[in-house]
Amino acid sequence: MSKENITILAIESSCDETSAAVCVDGTILSNNIATQAMHAAYGGVIPELASRAHLQNIVPVVDTALQKAGIKLAAIDAIAFTQAPGLIGSLLVGGQFAKSLALALDKPLIAVNHMQAHVLANLIPDKKPAFPFLCLTVSGGHTQIVRCNSPAQMQILGETIDDAAGEAFDKSAKLLGLPYPGGPLIDKYAAKGDPNRFQFPEPKIPGYNFSFSGLKTSILYFLMNAGKSLVYKPAFTATEEERKQFIENNLNDICASVQHRIITILLHKLTKAAKDAGIRDICIAGGVSANSGLRQAFTEAGIKNNWNTFIPDFQYCTDNAGMIAITGYYKYLAGDFAALSVQSAARSSL
Ligand code: KG4
Ligand code: ZN
Repeated sequence: MSKENITILAIESSCDETSAAVCVDGTILSNNIATQAMHAAYGGVIPELASRAHLQNIVPVVDTALQKAGIKLAAIDAIAFTQAPGLIGSLLVGGQFAKSLALALDKPLIAVNHMQAHVLANLIPDKKPAFPFLCLTVSGGHTQIVRCNSPAQMQILGETIDDAAGEAFDKSAKLLGLPYPGGPLIDKYAAKGDPNRFQFPEPKIPGYNFSFSGLKTSILYFLMNAGKSLVYKPAFTATEEERKQFIENNLNDICASVQHRIITILLHKLTKAAKDAGIRDICIAGGVSANSGLRQAFTEAGIKNNWNTFIPDFQYCTDNAGMIAITGYYKYLAGDFAALSVQSAARSSL
């Protein structure tokens, strides 16, 4: 493809962020994100409310992304959108908007897989990983170790068999009485705590797969027992008041210890996968890659194991259209366009 100034408008609406981005020749000119704050009151994302908020947000969010980039609609070469996976009602809003715009402007449509896009967020900066590279993708719905052979060819080496890493953060936070999404709050309190104060178990799962449900149960009993034990025993069960006091007096250390265990579970598997594959260009991606403890531990693991490490900028970790735009750009170069009849899907593999 010899054309220059390939300009992609991208739309992301898979969960509770309405986002639009513009990218020209692989450089992101704008990445506009509207976060839906109303879900915090319910302790999690309410799909119906998310769809309605996307409907309200989508036009101003796209408009602002174009303005920030200084790009007119007429200059757009293709429209990329998140086709799967995600909340179906949310996906449909972005998908229908993208299709309508593609039809009205008579421009090609590009359907993007959200998990592929999280990985390719690592191709946004000038300093890019070389293929093949490994990526640990850690988000609210997924936890995967992916071998990325090219922008289009990815293979999942391991993934969670129950909860995702983001869920482990959010559910632990909920048990501690913190609002949704709890991941960033655990990160904040952990920074002031002792990661070795409380010992939570590391599960023994074969291969490169992960499990976080046992950790969740340990934390549940640990808090029920006001720190006396990780297992259920009627004699250890504390009163409501004792539990509240225990959390209040130890919040920083509990958050640091929970975060430390989630990070060691993730990095032990990533280190094993990298060693076995003989790959040294290693990335992280997804909402949990915004975690400061993980970013630091990953960088340290890189120094220890002689890896070239790559971490997306914060704005490209949690859900954003910039990652959809960069993926759209590589799909444009490959001539990988979608028909207007393409359907959004709640589930899909890479
Ligand atoms: O990638 P993402 O924005 O959405 C999905 O595709 O799921 O990830 C959201 C997840 C949530 O579970 C949120 O708590 C977590 O990422 N998260 C964090 C941090 N920032 C976001 N977890 C830990 N520390 C953070 N700083
Ligand atoms: Zn995501």
